[in-house]
Amino acid sequence: GERDVAAVKTWVRDARRIVLLTGAGMSAESGVPTFRDAQSGLWTNFRPEELATEDAFRARPRFVWDWYAARRVGMATVQPNAGHRAVAAFQQRHPGRLTVVTQNVDGLHQRAGSAGVLALHGNIAEDKWLDRPRACCTAENVQDGHPPRCAACGNLRRPAVVWFGELLPAAALVEAEEAASGSDLVLVVGTSGRVYPAAGLARATRGRVVVVNPEPTALDDVADVVLAGTSAMLLPRLLED
Ligand code: APR
Repeated sequence: GERDVAAVKTWVRDARRIVLLTGAGMSAESGVPTFRDAQSGLWTNFRPEELATEDAFRARPRFVWDWYAARRVGMATVQPNAGHRAVAAFQQRHPGRLTVVTQNVDGLHQRAGSAGVLALHGNIAEDKWLDRPRACCTAENVQDGHPPRCAACGNLRRPAVVWFGELLPAAALVEAEEAASGSDLVLVVGTSGRVYPAAGLARATRGRVVVVNPEPTALDDVADVVLAGTSAMLLPRLLED
């Protein structure tokens, strides 16, 4: 309610170091489907294991590549929303006070102007070699296809996102853990809080935890306050001076 919003606004004002941990719900109002939402979740058509794993890609490279390519095309038309913009504006007004840690691969925090975004699950706009690249695996040798491959040795290109069962980028994860453990306040926005290690960051702070989500989440138990609402509506209010 309003009292909770007022309380969180004072916590934001008084916090020296804030971590913002975001998930797919942060981009819902930009028109990007979430993963587990009943009505619009991406996984309602496929189980994550069918698509977002290295085994799935090796078994059906064309199917998985085309699924990501379709999402990549969709990203070309979406824009950051008021929530992303409020975060970037806060960072500009208060340099170094708010660290963005995101599970999203849509690049919308970065496009809104946020600095130093820790993208724990990579970026859907980028791809990388599936197997260790050899001397022949150069940009010039990339042969177009679904997926593209090295014309010399056949090494496939794959989306540069973290798949289930894969390690997160170590540097980003360490930096996110350090930011969380040193924070006074963690704002958990737009995530169901079910995928680790990202969700664990909300449990790593000695400070306060606030969850912003229209639905209950798996992190509500660790929250000092749960604000039932959308990110595009609440973040501009919580982050205004
Ligand atoms: N504002 C805030 N939250 C919202 C909004 C909104 N407008 N719309 C939906 N949500 C919430 C949903 O209630 C849900 O709790 O966003 C959350 C989205 O949860 P998931 O679909 O599980 O997405 P996320 O938590 O980001 O998934 C984590 O799982 O599939 C993997 O790697 C993938 O990064 C992803 C990870």
